[in-house]
Amino acid sequence: MTNQNNTTIKFHSGEKIPVELHKVRIVQKLFLKPIEERYKAIEEAGYNTFLLNTKDIFLDQLTDSGTNAMSDNQISSMLQADDAYAGSQSFYRMEEAAREVFGKHYVLPVHQGRAAENIISQVFIKKGQVIPMNYHFTTTKEHMELNGGKVLEIYTDDALKIKSDVQFKGNIDIDKLKAVFEEHGTEGVAFVRMEASTNLIGGQPFSMQNMRDVRALCDQYNTMLVLDASLIGENAYMIKQREEEFKNADIKDILNEMCEYSELVYFSSRKVSSTRGGGILTNSEDLYLKMRDLLVLFEGFLTYGGMSVREIEAMAVGLIETCDDTVISQSPSFIKYAVDNLDASGVPVITPAGALGCHIDAKGFLPHVPQTEYPAGALASALFIISGIRGMERGTISSVRDENGDDILADVELLRLAFPRRVFTLSQTMFAVDRVKWLYENRNLVGGLEWIQEPPLLRFFMGTLKPIGDWPQKLIAKFKEDFGDSL
Ligand code: F0G
Repeated sequence: MTNQNNTTIKFHSGEKIPVELHKVRIVQKLFLKPIEERYKAIEEAGYNTFLLNTKDIFLDQLTDSGTNAMSDNQISSMLQADDAYAGSQSFYRMEEAAREVFGKHYVLPVHQGRAAENIISQVFIKKGQVIPMNYHFTTTKEHMELNGGKVLEIYTDDALKIKSDVQFKGNIDIDKLKAVFEEHGTEGVAFVRMEASTNLIGGQPFSMQNMRDVRALCDQYNTMLVLDASLIGENAYMIKQREEEFKNADIKDILNEMCEYSELVYFSSRKVSSTRGGGILTNSEDLYLKMRDLLVLFEGFLTYGGMSVREIEAMAVGLIETCDDTVISQSPSFIKYAVDNLDASGVPVITPAGALGCHIDAKGFLPHVPQTEYPAGALASALFIISGIRGMERGTISSVRDENGDDILADVELLRLAFPRRVFTLSQTMFAVDRVKWLYENRNLVGGLEWIQEPPLLRFFMGTLKPIGDWPQKLIAKFKEDFGDSL
């Protein structure tokens, strides 16, 4: 096979371009509506991008979860789906693929990632135990706390720095992990969790060396290591790009090694494998038997776990395709293109570029908007108005209030522009970069938001807000001045 190791191509101009190494065979029409209609849509959605209808959206960069393009082989595999409550051949095909890619024997199917978190938390956390990890994910933390556990984030000093050239910001701080074990002892630690391409700090990977060091401590304290593998393909790809020892390694060997260090591996296949479902994997019969009964209770029988058999077929193919450099490199190389371009223009973005998406620092972008007026939410709304691009607020709106009713201000205020795998083209990416740059030049026109209706629970999903003052009108006027009739 030709070595397509480096999928970013050098042009005659010297520029390096992430050329698409796939061709488009099924397309979906998109709508780029005039700015007045985009404004009307965000007004109706209460300045909350979760409440927009995709008919009003041009580029949907809310998430990479369940929104990835499937390959021709994945779609065609769905036709051979074997509908059976028990013993479906589709499951056995997926089981075989999962064994090959993750190197684990027992495969428990679940309907999505958080279902795996539910089962793992119920089975392996005792009240009062701590769970050290590189960083939490929202659903992970909720499940762990529901089961009486306490999440301890033991990231390195660089993890939360917006601008950095540290290549593995997702690493666990080994000294801090040692201190956790010394304080709580083996009994007090439920397990250690490592999240591949750490989502909430900007899709940042950990290194294989860090995983080896964590494993050594887990051995010393006789503690289980659990790997959240939802973004494992991209973490493996970045290990290959950034860790000297692996520059010529096969992605599959890297994946296998990462999983080898973990007693339990779980994943959302809405990300890895570009389907809709999830799974838990282990080599231990004992661990498998502990989880098996809850699987049947919460998810469905052992050979479908709440998933459609069609998705299970596509998952089998998608897992194998994750090991292909040309497949797994697409999203990170487009993200790198966007991040490097924005960074070069002075737009505050998380660097180095990671997995999942381009993360814009809303505090740096809108320093005049106080955190109590939700800069990341305001930036998400402003970007939608001027471009039809839907991003996701990951800041104080996604946080909660304390017992006095005050906002607990988020560590970082981010606007996440996700890059679902193989969905957008380079000209669409260039459009996104262009409009973000324009908005940055006109950032003084963007103001804050305040609540209209604030639900007590998960307010970021359902809550509605309004702009403070008439900044959207001013922004629209400037857009028309600069772009005329262009959409
Ligand atoms: N773990 C990680 C690292 C995730 O990013 C997600 C989901 C989950 C677990 C839960 O999986 O959604 O299938 O139940 N992340 C999505 C996102 C929601 O938009 O980043 P799920």
